[in-house]
Amino acid sequence: MAKVLTIHGGVPLKGKVTVRGAKNLVPKAMVAALLGDSPSVLRNVPEIKDVAVVTSLLKIHGVTVSKDEVTGDLTMDPSGTKTATSNEIDTHAGDSRIPILFCGPLLHSLGEALIPNLGGCKIGDRPIDFHLDVLRHFGAEIDKAGPLGTSIRAPHGLTGAKISLPYPSVGATEQVLLTAVRAKGTTEVENAAIEPEILDLISLLQKMGAIITVGRDRVIRIIGVEKLNGYNHKALPDRNESASWASAALVTKGDIFVEGAAQRDLTAFLHTYRQIGGEFEVTDDGIRFFHPGGDLKPLILETDVHPGFMTDWQQPLVVALTQATGVSIIHETVYENRFGFTNALVEMGAKVQLHSECLGAIPCRFGQRNFQHSAVITGPTPLTGADVDIPDLRGGFSHLIAALAAEGTSHVTGIELINRGYEKFMDKLTDLGARVEMNEIA
Ligand code: EPZ
Repeated sequence: MAKVLTIHGGVPLKGKVTVRGAKNLVPKAMVAALLGDSPSVLRNVPEIKDVAVVTSLLKIHGVTVSKDEVTGDLTMDPSGTKTATSNEIDTHAGDSRIPILFCGPLLHSLGEALIPNLGGCKIGDRPIDFHLDVLRHFGAEIDKAGPLGTSIRAPHGLTGAKISLPYPSVGATEQVLLTAVRAKGTTEVENAAIEPEILDLISLLQKMGAIITVGRDRVIRIIGVEKLNGYNHKALPDRNESASWASAALVTKGDIFVEGAAQRDLTAFLHTYRQIGGEFEVTDDGIRFFHPGGDLKPLILETDVHPGFMTDWQQPLVVALTQATGVSIIHETVYENRFGFTNALVEMGAKVQLHSECLGAIPCRFGQRNFQHSAVITGPTPLTGADVDIPDLRGGFSHLIAALAAEGTSHVTGIELINRGYEKFMDKLTDLGARVEMNEIA
């Protein structure tokens, strides 16, 4: 039975939502527990599908994972780590991109790793070539990498290496960190990603006993150590969910207090939010986002790696720009195909044109390669309800925002995708006064 979410639009969202641990840190922190000689405790864990997927993957590898039913905190004990069977691994094929990060820790513990075919949002090809190159640098041997997954061995252990990433890839940087901390000798990685989630992962690895420094030139140096202990860590809040609710407040002309939102991880977003006419108030407990009245202003925006404007913030903001008075231009420089979600916005009445040219100054890998990675948005245009099928996590949330702002009723399918990254989003929508119903369809 599939689910369909019916949304009656035109209602300003008002009230409070609570944002917990970041979807793009928590699953990686869980994988890091494999590296410890003693149990790890992870706090501020959201109830999202990616956490369930990694919990299951850890369990098939012999790690005991217990969840505090009140706080949601996870205690992971890796003392029983063992090889999983290929059948067990295959049941996780297509679920997430996180399994590729099991390689380093499993190679350290077992000398081998079998990784299922990866999932993740369809926002580009999302290859793992950087990851495999990183593992080869440490001395791993890739037996096979293909549609049935990847099997990797390290018969001679893993040795520190000097690595230069072709692009500041978040995943590849995590691959280096999770492998280098227990490799023999020192590792240096140039052109590393330094997103807040990366720095939070470095913090918990440091708590385990790792030796890691981050240079001002994006060079991260790791001195490998023999053993690591378990950690006790509170995950940083989810800046992407915070930005999503902020955009929802703007588009529905509402007023939302996002408890847990941290200004330090959102500065580029907050700058842009104010530039287009949104307002916010920062407190120690979170951030209040609201539409102060008046017209929204168009802008020219380029997504980039940290500390630039995060690619995951672009989709919800596009919906706000459809309501701005004038022409906005967005150059998406991180993923080649992250504007697919705008088709549904056009069906609802938005004016969005996609282009394969780089409409911006940041050097981009996608120019002249026929990827529609620049968008021109003309507003304001009234939005009317439509039937939409959700394409990916952030694009899907943008569809929800658009439907909530649109006049009339929308029916949204593919809604389970939202569970991957937004904890209890239905409860949050109803708490904010949204008029929504979830039904089953045959
Ligand atoms: C992480 O994905 C996040 N996902 C993404 O969030 C986020 O958009 C992205 O980082 C960028 O910040 C998780 O952390 C689970 P990358 P990741 O490696 O690590 C190319 C969301 O909505 N690339 O930094 O997969 C890649 O195709 C998701 O929460 C290679 O070419 O991102 C992309 O163009 C979406 N080869 C660029 O690098 C590789 O081996 C950046 O990807 C790896 C990446």
